Amino acid sequence: MNFKNVTIAGSGVLGYQIAFQTAFHGFNVTVYDINDKVLDKAKAKFELMSEAFKRDLGATQEQLDATFKNLHYNSDLKEAVKDADLVIEAVPENPQIKLDFYQKLAKAAPEKTIFATNSSTLLPSQFADTTGRPEKFAALHFANTIWINNTAEIMGHADTDRAVFDALVDFAKAIGMVALPLYKEQPGYILNSLLVPLLSAATNLLVNDVADFETIDKTWMVATGAPMGPFGILDVVGITTAYNINQMQAEKTQDPLKIKTVEYLKEQFIDKNKLGVATGEGFYKYPNPAYKEKNFLK
Ligand SMILES: NC(=O)c1ccc[n+]([C@@H]2O[C@H](COP(=O)([O-])OP(=O)(O)OC[C@H]3O[C@@H](n4cnc5c(N)ncnc54)[C@H](O)[C@@H]3O)[C@@H](O)[C@H]2O)c1
Repeated sequence: MNFKNVTIAGSGVLGYQIAFQTAFHGFNVTVYDINDKVLDKAKAKFELMSEAFKRDLGATQEQLDATFKNLHYNSDLKEAVKDADLVIEAVPENPQIKLDFYQKLAKAAPEKTIFATNSSTLLPSQFADTTGRPEKFAALHFANTIWINNTAEIMGHADTDRAVFDALVDFAKAIGMVALPLYKEQPGYILNSLLVPLLSAATNLLVNDVADFETIDKTWMVATGAPMGPFGILDVVGITTAYNINQMQAEKTQDPLKIKTVEYLKEQFIDKNKLGVATGEGFYKYPNPAYKEKNFLK
């Protein structure tokens, strides 16, 4: 299975990054979104991406010119997928929007086309039947700022064809990702299955007044050799994401500790616009967070 033409559906936060990364690595990419106005916005974001590729990866002007030549745009679904070997879906994280999209895509795409979802929290089995080609469908999950944090988790559902799964692993490598295969469906994939409980345990210790956040980070860093602790990671992920996850858990479980965590994050961070690295301050102040100082681990 050799992919040449790749269509990226949805040109939002992740979609445009996947499109640029794929085009940079020589694939013929079509970017699809709901209308031409949204696609114009994506074009503007590609200019910013090319600056990031120069700065972070040392990309040459020649490579970037070739990347732009590989990028095409279409807001007509049938046209956008007519030659696609692979469609990567990065439409909003809303089950109904995704179901509607797969219904239309199933009709519009040629039989050969493989579909992959970039969904962070929904499972491929939720959409497999709607795709009309369950054996040619799996998840291919990227992380934000994919050209630096270049993980690609590949996860099929029970009926994904093994050859399709392997082709997605090869494709991920071909676009410069570290391919991370999962052999069964797992909510949160590998990364969030590890990260969410770690971050949650850290905020529990803090909100329960067991220790201060620097001591918690210091414990993790000294004991495991990690370059940052859970609160350093929370600043990178963004406090808003942590707040949203805790709020969902609090609503579901009514756990008093979770409710206290939600209030704490709101009062101390969200209301003060201390949202992490992105706003210059979260638990730590940036660009020189205290955990990077020489004496922090003493
Ligand atoms: N943002 C992240 O950090 C991140 C990380 C990993 C995975 N993801 C996943 O990627 C997917 C997209 O997330 P995002 O953050 O890029 O969302 P986003 O809201 O930034 O972008 C979604 C894009 O999809 C378009 N869209 C809406 N309906 C559509 C339709 N019917 N057909 C085609 N396009 C449509 C929107 O116009 C928008 O451009 C989600 O499944 C999300 O879980 C996001």
